[in-house]
Parts: sequence; C-alpha cells; structure tokens
Amino acid sequence: MKLLEIQSSVRACGSISRRLSDEFIQAWSTAHSKTQQKKRDVGINPPTHPTELWTKANYTLPKERSHLMASVLTESEILIEELLWADRILLGVPMYNFSVPSTLKAYLDNVVRINRTFTFDPATYTFQGLIQGKKALIITPSAGNFVVGTPLAEMNFCDTYLRSVLGFIGITDVTVVPVPEQFMSNEIRQQEMTMARTKLMKIATDW
Ligand SMILES: Cc1cc2nc3c(=O)[nH]c(=O)nc-3n(C[C@H](O)[C@H](O)[C@H](O)COP(=O)(O)O)c2cc1C
Repeated sequence: MKLLEIQSSVRACGSISRRLSDEFIQAWSTAHSKTQQKKRDVGINPPTHPTELWTKANYTLPKERSHLMASVLTESEILIEELLWADRILLGVPMYNFSVPSTLKAYLDNVVRINRTFTFDPATYTFQGLIQGKKALIITPSAGNFVVGTPLAEMNFCDTYLRSVLGFIGITDVTVVPVPEQFMSNEIRQQEMTMARTKLMKIATDW
C-alpha cells in the first residue's frame, strides 16, 4: 500500500493538520504491512504557478512540444506521477479564507491536466477522470465551524471544492475529517481535536 502525503499548512511548527496527519500515518502504517510513503509539502515548498508557456505546452501534443515546452511541464509531470503512484492520498488542508491554501491551488493547477488526469469528449460533452482506484483523506482544521448544519456552512469552499476537483480527476472515494473551532477556548479546541483523533484512528485500521 502506497501513501502520498500532501501538506499545505504554511506552519512548520504548531500546525494542527500536520500533527494529526503524523498521528494518522503512524497508526495507518502500524495497521498495514508493507507500506511505502512519499511526502509532498506544498505549504513549505509551493509548486510553480502555470504560466503562458506552461499553458501552451499543456495544450500541445507531447510529440510536438519543443524542448522548452517539455521542460516547463517537468514539475507538473513529477506531481502527476506521484499521484498515479499512490494508492492512498492524505491531504492536510487548513481552511484559508474559506477555501484551500493558495499553494494547494497551485498544486491542483499543476495536476488537473487534459489527457493526463482527465479526458474530455466533445461529441458527448463528457469528462472522465483518469486517476482511478485511489482513496483520499482530508484533514481540515479551521478557526471557525463550517460543518454542514452550522450557520457558516455555505461559506465552506474548502473540502467541498476538494471533493469536486478530486472527483473530476477520478478520485471519488474521499473522506473528510474537519477540525473546527480552533480559535475557541482551549477546552473546546481540545474537544474537537479528540473527536478528530477518534475518527482518524478508526479510519486508519481499514483505509
Ligand atoms: C491566511 C489564513 C487564512 C485563514 N482563513 C480562515 C478562514 O477563512 N476560516 C477559518 O475558520 N479559519 C481561517 N484561518 C485559520 C486556520 O484555518 C486555522 O488556524 C488552522 O488551524 C490552520 O491550520 P494548521 O494549524 O494546520 O496550520 C486562516 C488562517 C490563515 C493563516
């Protein structure tokens, strides 16, 4: 079983998504034999944003790309190969301004690519995701509470967006573990952490 961990908090220290991810990976590796792991830290090392040349290269057939076009897609190709390699994808994703961190958006702009991670059939106007047979788990802390049924739920463009974009490239088995209320009292924060931990430890055994 191969796990790709993607972290997107800008905080190297004191990050809740990183701490819970570490705990989850430890439990998951103990519960499964022969695991392999890779880590992509877009919070600390953000991917390059797509450029005009990148876009041109992306829409040029591989055999017709110039050397420069091919080289500008190198990082994107590495990121896509990592996704294809993985059986399981763990994402640590703090909510930033109601959505995902911009570094994770840059990552997604690099991996959501026609004929690499999805196809489009103009005759039927249908899209097909090419990243099949994977499971994703999203650990998403936030200062406020955006879970379904709360007053701010409709402002949650974080895990809702991730479900859409991952589903678009074929990753439809997505589990979300929110860790809300992180700007509340210590007691409430701890309660939320404990609830998230309990969920994660359960997921670790059969994910
Ligand atoms: C740039 C930035 C934007 C944020 N925007 C939101 C937000 O829209 N809603 C929210 O509830 N919390 C927001 N937060 C708080 C974080 O989601 C929260 O502190 C979370 O615990 C950060 O994850 P981490 O602990 O893994 O670093 C924001 C934090 C930062 C740094």
